[in-house]
Amino acid sequence: MTALPQERRVVTAIPGPKSQELQARRTAAVARGVGSTLPVFVTRAGGGVVEDVDGNSLIDFGSGIAVTSVGASAEAVVRRASAQLADFTHTCFMVTPYEGYVAVAEALAELTPGDHAKKSALFNSGAEAVENAVKIARAYTGRQAVIAFDHGYHGRTNLTMALTAKNMPYKHGFGPFAPEVYRVPVAYGYRWPTGPENAGPEAAAQAIDQITKQVGAENVAAIVIEPVLGEGGFIEPARGFLPALRQYAADHGIVFVADEIQSGFCRTGQWFACEDEGIVPDLITTAKGIAGGLPLAAVTGRAEIMDAAHAGGLGGTYGGNPVACAAALGAIETMRELDLNARARHIEAVMKPRLAAMAEKFDVIGDVRGRGAMIAIELVADRDTKEPDPRAAAALAAACHRAGLLVLTCGTYGNVLRFLPPLVIGEDLLNEGLDIIEQALAGL
Ligand SMILES: Cc1ncc(COP(=O)(O)O)c(C=O)c1O
Repeated sequence: MTALPQERRVVTAIPGPKSQELQARRTAAVARGVGSTLPVFVTRAGGGVVEDVDGNSLIDFGSGIAVTSVGASAEAVVRRASAQLADFTHTCFMVTPYEGYVAVAEALAELTPGDHAKKSALFNSGAEAVENAVKIARAYTGRQAVIAFDHGYHGRTNLTMALTAKNMPYKHGFGPFAPEVYRVPVAYGYRWPTGPENAGPEAAAQAIDQITKQVGAENVAAIVIEPVLGEGGFIEPARGFLPALRQYAADHGIVFVADEIQSGFCRTGQWFACEDEGIVPDLITTAKGIAGGLPLAAVTGRAEIMDAAHAGGLGGTYGGNPVACAAALGAIETMRELDLNARARHIEAVMKPRLAAMAEKFDVIGDVRGRGAMIAIELVADRDTKEPDPRAAAALAAACHRAGLLVLTCGTYGNVLRFLPPLVIGEDLLNEGLDIIEQALAGL
């Protein structure tokens, strides 16, 4: 196969005629509940581009929602997964084990924060990992309550819908939800009423007060939080918030779970985003970037907590599939060899000043934030009232798509444009993508 040219190429309308034909077939055959941001049908992807059936090549600022950090066809992922495919596709680790699963658990013990003894269990999706983290925390503490946060997102299964804050589209009409989930405030600096400098301590005090008064610390099994909130709007909790919650958990025997499914594996310029404030979680959930695009997820944590679940209590037919484990080992090899943490920090150093300069020119940008290659702009109709502008976000995304740049939106108010380029994207493509965003802003 020829190498995938690392260039933007727009040769038809986007989506083009072949994509539109496929979209008609898709609409007839696929449930409408499964959406697509941009219905171009993909033939190849890798590096910093996604190529479609019409011959267009889009710059990728989405990475399949923060998954293909090493690219969508990374050499080590393809090599290791292909070799594994030829050897065997599946045995079920719960029936007859294999080395790849153990090697992934060893790598997770090494890479995740803290030098305590750690163990892991592997699953298929992020939501499944979060569900299992809660199972493990309940087994360990003998308690039931779980604390989640405003703007949090943890998945689409029943328990993870309950943990997720936003109704539409994630929860609407799908209840009743799992019980014993309690939601408390998060330190959303940009929107904190008394200003970002007060958000960390004030939000922590409010959250802790609510947990103490409304739930009772002695009833809480787990506090589950994203160290950078993803779907909720790329919200970095203001400084001091995470350490205060982490300390509260430690003081009260509560299992502190960092959901690093979107923020983990070099995305923010560190192996895990919680390292930024020196947080050592009891359990950490990972997925997405872990395996270069193959479905794999994990719960990793203190050995004594992980071992609280009885033998046979955790698992699943496909959890830790051997091909996905081989891919994960290839992705981790790539992250180490190419120093993708440094690459993510470089992407931030390129993107943030340019986006800040755009914010000087365009009032619609209320905030520029994020770390590493997890960067966002929040769009507002009025900078003083900070009224969210989801229509501007949709229009901007559509303009970028037409120009051949794949971007995603997010946020509780739908007004955040988020940028998640593969960490291996070339500098030219990165700058060209930023040029397109600037042109799209000018055309709003
Ligand atoms: C922080 C976080 N947790 C959990 C999930 C759910 O992962 P999955 O879609 O693999 O079930 C996501 C997915 O976006 C996520 O960002």
